[in-house]
Amino acid sequence: MVVLWRLSSLLVALALVLVPRTHGWSKEGHVLTCRIAQGLLEPEAAAAVENLLPDYANGDLSSLCVWPDQIRHWYKYRWTSPLHFIDTPDNACSYEYSRDCHDTNGVKDMCVAGAIQNFTSQLVHYREGTSDRRYNMTEALLFLSHFMGDIHQPMHVGFTSDEGGNTISVRWFRHKSNLHHVWDREIILTALADYYEKNLDSLQEELVGNFTDGIWFDDVASWEECDDLLTCSNKYANESINLACKWGYKGVEPGQTLADEYFGSRMPIVMKRIAQGGVRLAMVLNLVFGDSQHGFAAAS
Ligand SMILES: *[C@@H]1O[C@H](CO)[C@@H](O)[C@H](O)[C@H]1NC(C)=O
Ligand SMILES: *[C@@H]1O[C@H](CO)[C@@H](O)[C@H](O)[C@H]1NC(C)=O
Ligand SMILES: *[C@@H]1O[C@H](CO)[C@@H](O)[C@H](O)[C@H]1NC(C)=O
Ligand SMILES: *[C@@H]1O[C@H](CO)[C@@H](O)[C@H](O)[C@H]1NC(C)=O
Repeated sequence: MVVLWRLSSLLVALALVLVPRTHGWSKEGHVLTCRIAQGLLEPEAAAAVENLLPDYANGDLSSLCVWPDQIRHWYKYRWTSPLHFIDTPDNACSYEYSRDCHDTNGVKDMCVAGAIQNFTSQLVHYREGTSDRRYNMTEALLFLSHFMGDIHQPMHVGFTSDEGGNTISVRWFRHKSNLHHVWDREIILTALADYYEKNLDSLQEELVGNFTDGIWFDDVASWEECDDLLTCSNKYANESINLACKWGYKGVEPGQTLADEYFGSRMPIVMKRIAQGGVRLAMVLNLVFGDSQHGFAAAS
């Protein structure tokens, strides 16, 4: 048993190292979102999350928040690949669930907003004791936690023809990158190196400080507003495509070098989206697993 258990931890560790990540907040973005969220859980939700996590996570949700990126190319999980993003019509700068939430074959609901609804609803049924036994609730929790991060990354709700900026090659300071990756990872890594001595804990502390008692203090209540647990993801997707147009694509030509000016003006957007993703993931988990009935009323 112990050997098997260690083997599976080793495989998880190996997957972490070996699988290239082309989509999704980087590891750092997801870790921050999930750590922020876990820190805001009320006791019932905290206990439910701990219960669903495998032992090797040691109660740390953030340690498995990148899991959906690691398995998306495995045969068994190929169906999850379209669930990380939404392609919207080029230059429309708008999002509509009925028009945009489908995979490339047109299968409805197969997009990040549909996935958030799906896994939220699975967890609500689990909580109510009416869950479908075919579904794995540990996986539902990890998918929900990951996709709440992705839907807040502006370029995850991007244009169809450039795959959310993936096909727009740019230079990030001196090395080659692409516009999607700049938003997934480059901005976060440059911020970590320039301002936080590469220490994720310091960055996390400042993010939390900025909404508990700083520049975002007055905004948090509006971030958490959600009348219907199952459709609020549409609001987040709409915010993302608007930010993608206003800040992501704006002024960027293929082959261009993006450096100080782009970094300085976009970093605050990235930081705010990470914080919002964390606050909202906590809100959803608190409603789904909370003591009170309002979560279920909101979700039904
Ligand atoms: C919802 O999750 C189930 C498995 O848990 C999966 O078969 C289905 O394709 C998912 N749909 C969406 C839209 O995520
Ligand atoms: C649920 O999924 C996790 C992660 O894939 C896996 O380790 C676990 O064995 C699964 N549980 C069941 C009951 O299949
Ligand atoms: C936190 O807010 C300060 C302004 O009060 C700002 O300079 C800093 O960049 C913010 N940090 C993060 C991580 O958002
Ligand atoms: C989408 O976002 C835009 C810009 O913020 C806003 O004007 C519009 O009302 C939003 N649409 C929906 C359906 O939320």
